[in-house]
Amino acid sequence: MAENWWKNAIGYQIYPRSFKDSNGDGIGDLQGVIEKLPYLQELGIDFIWLNPIYASPNVDNGYDISDYQAIQPEYGTMEDFKELLEKAHAVGIRVILDLVVNHTSDQHPWFIEAKKSKDSPYRDFYHWQDATEQKLPNDWQSFFGGSTWTIDPETNQAYFHVFAPQQPDLNWKNPKVRDEIYQMIRWWLDLGIDGFRLDAISHIQKADWKMKIKDNPWAPFMNVSGIDAYMQDLKALFDEYPIMTVGEASGVTSKKAVDWTKEEGYLDMIFELEHNVRKGIPGQERIDLLGFKKVLARWQKHLEHEGWNALYIENHDNPRFNTVLGNETAKSAKALAVMYLFLKGTPFIYQGQELGMTNFPFTAIEQVDAKDSHSYYNRLLAEGVSEKEALAIVTRWTRDNSRTPMQWDETKNGGFTSGKPWLSVNPNTAEINVASEQDDDSVLNFYKQLIAYRKDEKIFTEGGFDLIAVNDPDIFAYVRSNQEKKVLVLVNVSEKKRHLELPKRIYSKKWQLKISNGGQKPIAKQMTFEPYDALVFESVNQK
Ligand code: GLC
Ligand code: CA
Repeated sequence: MAENWWKNAIGYQIYPRSFKDSNGDGIGDLQGVIEKLPYLQELGIDFIWLNPIYASPNVDNGYDISDYQAIQPEYGTMEDFKELLEKAHAVGIRVILDLVVNHTSDQHPWFIEAKKSKDSPYRDFYHWQDATEQKLPNDWQSFFGGSTWTIDPETNQAYFHVFAPQQPDLNWKNPKVRDEIYQMIRWWLDLGIDGFRLDAISHIQKADWKMKIKDNPWAPFMNVSGIDAYMQDLKALFDEYPIMTVGEASGVTSKKAVDWTKEEGYLDMIFELEHNVRKGIPGQERIDLLGFKKVLARWQKHLEHEGWNALYIENHDNPRFNTVLGNETAKSAKALAVMYLFLKGTPFIYQGQELGMTNFPFTAIEQVDAKDSHSYYNRLLAEGVSEKEALAIVTRWTRDNSRTPMQWDETKNGGFTSGKPWLSVNPNTAEINVASEQDDDSVLNFYKQLIAYRKDEKIFTEGGFDLIAVNDPDIFAYVRSNQEKKVLVLVNVSEKKRHLELPKRIYSKKWQLKISNGGQKPIAKQMTFEPYDALVFESVNQK
C-alpha cells in the first residue's frame, strides 16, 4: 500500500442517518450506503468518512456512544458493517470511522457504574468533583450552553462535560481509561478500517479546575498543555497501521498545526474550525469571503512545507455553503467547488454538496431536531427575542440544514426513504437531486470533472500556493505552482459583476482554460467576471 495514500485522495463525508434508508423506517443505514457505493465510485472519490455508527441513545445523533464495539441497531449490524467494508474496498473506496473518545454517553456501562457510588471502580473513568448547586467547581461553560458540571445529588458531586450533560467527559489521566480506548481502537483497526476522524480530540486534556475564564470561554479545554503525551500514545498506535487520521482539533492554531500534522506529527491532518467568518444581521448572516479566504490562505501558508491541510466547506455541523456563501444556484455551487478543491490538502466533500443542496426553509421550530438549536432558541426567547426572530436566528445556522436527507430523486421524500424521513426532505428536491443531475451541465457532473482533473495533476498535491487579489472582498484567486507549470484559479464569489486587474507576472504568461462554469474567457490585464464565474487555467509551456 502506497505510503501517504491520502495525500492525493478525495474524501466524501457520509452522515449515515440521512444518506439512504434501505428498509423504510425513515432512517438512513449501512445497507443504504452499500447500495450507493456505485454512485460514490462514479463520483471518483477515494474514501468515505462515516459519522458515528456505534450504539447510542442519540442525544447527539451518535456522538454519545454507549458501546464502542457495537453498531447502532437503526443502522444495521456488525455483519452489515463488514459487508460495507468489503464491498467498499472491492471498488477501491477506503472507509474512515469517527472516533469519539473525549466523552461517552451517560448510558455507557462505564458511566452507569461510575454513577453508582464514589467508590465505584469506574468513578475515576470520568471527572467528578465535590459540588452543590450553589457552589460548582468552576464557572466553565459547555459548548451546548450552561455549565460544564452536572450535579449528582446522591453523592454531592458533579461530573464534567464539555458538550451535553448526557455526554460525560472521559478522564484521560486515568491509565485504565487510556488502555480501554487504545484496545478499542486496535480492535477496529484490526478489522481492516482505513482510519479515523478524531472527534473533539483537542478537548481530552483539561486545565486545572481552578482556572477562571477570561476572554475565551473554551480556553480551559482547548489544546491544553499535557495533551501531547496522549497524542503521542495515539500516534504510536496509529503508526502501526497504513491508515489516515484527521482530527477535529479546535484551538490548534495554524502555527501549532504544523506540529500536529508534520511527518512525525500526531495526526495526518486536522480540520481548521476558523473559516466560518460570519457577517450580517443575525438571521441573515453570510460567510464573509474576505475573512474566509484569509483564514484559508494562512493555513495554506503555515502548512506549505511541513504539515498537511484537510479541506472542506461543509459538514454535519454547519449550514450549506451554497446558501451562506453562494446564492443557491447551480452556478454558485460550482464556483464554491472550484474555490476550495484546488487548494493544497486533502479535500472532503459533504454529502449533497456535490448536488448544490441548500439550507432548509424552516417555518417552525418543531421542524428542527438538533437539541443544541432548541436550547439556543429557548435562550433567545428568555432574552425577550420574538418567536419569529428567534426562529430566523437559530435556523440560519442550525446544523440541521446539512442533516436533511440526501436528495436522490424528485419525489417527495427525495428517494431517501419509502417511509417517513426522520428529518424533512428539502422541498427543492423537486429540482436538486441526483437523478435530474445526470446531464452535462449539472453541478454533479461538474464535481466529477473537477475531481478527475485534480487527481490527474500532481501539482495539486505538491505544488506551492499563492493568494492573489489578497484584499479583494469578492474574488478568491490563487496560483498553484511546481517546477513544470502553474495553475491559476479565479472565482468571483459574489452576485456582482466584478473587475479585477491581474498582476503582470500573470497576464504576461500564456494560459489555457481548463475548467469553467460559464463561458470562455482569455487571460488579460483587465478581467471582468459575471456573478459566480469560476475559471481554472494552466500555464502553457513556452519553451
Ligand atoms: C463534534 C461533532 C459534533 C458533536 C460534537 C460532540 O464537534 O462534529 O457533531 O456534536 O463533536 O461529540
Ligand atoms: Ca433504515
